[in-house]
Amino acid sequence: MKDIKGIPPHDAYPCSCGRSPTGRCCGWHSLTEEEYLDKAHPHTLNYHHLTALGDYYPTSYKLLETEESVDTTEEKFEYVRYNPRTNIDRWGLSLTSLDGGVTGIPDLDSIKQYNTEHDTTYIEDDFNVPTPAYHYFKPVLNLFKPWLFRTHILKLNPGGYFPPHRDAITLKSFRLIIALKNTKSPAVQFLIEDRVLHFEEGRLYFVDTVKEHQLFNSSNDPSYWLVMNVKVTKEAVATLLNLIQKEYK
Ligand SMILES: [Fe+2]
Repeated sequence: MKDIKGIPPHDAYPCSCGRSPTGRCCGWHSLTEEEYLDKAHPHTLNYHHLTALGDYYPTSYKLLETEESVDTTEEKFEYVRYNPRTNIDRWGLSLTSLDGGVTGIPDLDSIKQYNTEHDTTYIEDDFNVPTPAYHYFKPVLNLFKPWLFRTHILKLNPGGYFPPHRDAITLKSFRLIIALKNTKSPAVQFLIEDRVLHFEEGRLYFVDTVKEHQLFNSSNDPSYWLVMNVKVTKEAVATLLNLIQKEYK
């Protein structure tokens, strides 16, 4: 067979670090993680990159035995009222919090109102200490641990709901969600704008909660959801994109 000229053999200078997009060493092995991400994604690696893929989409990650994990948290911990200032039947269990406790204060309260009343200046990023309940969802939480804050199990009792609203409109964080137990439409409905979302229980999803969304439980049982807030950094976005790319390979 005739050699094709002009194409260097790939085994002459193979890439051993795995960073080269061609398989041949291109000098990227010596870059810091941030420098490498700039090279690999020269245009954007921010919230817009994530939403370019869709309003919500699954990743390759699946958490196993979600119902059993929820049941264990119900046995071992006390869920507290989610924003006790409203009279809606919804509860939460902190997986990260200000002090590593599960009181929900102030991470499951209205932070704005709490700050006003207590003359504090907490922001969501402050709620990043793992609680004892973190352990039960550790495999998925650890994927994003360096950038994780204000993460909890949300429990909507029958009739519980979130009215239409938007979160994190500064685009400084993104939302990951796992439907854990009793989350199926139509009895339980999660909508973005006027579209009903369908979640595979246990599967990790990106959800663009900057868009108007709402959730309600019209079933006869509590509905449980894992809600993760992740700080937008190049590394965090790249970590999520890596999980997406694996899903569609
Ligand atoms: Fe929300």
